[in-house]
Amino acid sequence: MKFFVDTADTAEIKDLAATGLIDGVTTNPSLIAKSGRNFAEVIEEICGLTEGHVSAEVVATDYETMVSEGKKLQAIASNVAVKLPLTMDGLRACRTLSDAGTAVNVTLCFSANQALLAAKAGAAYISPFIGRLDDINIDGMELIEDIRTIYDNYMFETEILAASIRSANHVKLSALAGADVATVPPNVLKGLVSHPLTDKGLAAFLADAEKGGVKV
Ligand code: E4P
Repeated sequence: MKFFVDTADTAEIKDLAATGLIDGVTTNPSLIAKSGRNFAEVIEEICGLTEGHVSAEVVATDYETMVSEGKKLQAIASNVAVKLPLTMDGLRACRTLSDAGTAVNVTLCFSANQALLAAKAGAAYISPFIGRLDDINIDGMELIEDIRTIYDNYMFETEILAASIRSANHVKLSALAGADVATVPPNVLKGLVSHPLTDKGLAAFLADAEKGGVKV
């Protein structure tokens, strides 16, 4: 499973990239706004921090402007993946940009049928939003499972990018359901390493090593 980090905070991305655990980055207009930085500048900087795809989302809603914004974003760096919303214009723009060789991440997916349409439109990634479904008492994980089955039935190559992840459990369940990628906020990603028994065990090993004069 690939891990993308879901943030536009370049300091966080640098930190996490140094671990070697990061395969790409996703952003959205809310995360870019939160960074307080110029859109193109921040995307260019992020693209230099990872060799993987960096999703940058259009803000237009009509086909023509989506395509021209997508081309602008793609020109920033070769590892930009253009993020398009799951609307009819977004799907049409997905087909146009994908046919021209651009990786497209179709975002704001909340149903299996939407995911089927994105795959048919040639998307490189589909982003089902688990957390936002859970927020309205719909099981987000069931959606990942359904998309996995449908994509396998028809051998679609579109990668399932589990998004709107809020917890370590979301990461585990997405992996079990066969998501290809999880995009994870930095705090959740860092939390995956923690286990109290690891801390306790390490403390005991180090205490014994010190007592016994063990040196490497
Ligand atoms: C991913 O591409 C999305 O931008 C992100 O995961 C949305 O997460 P949220 O629902 O926590 O805002």
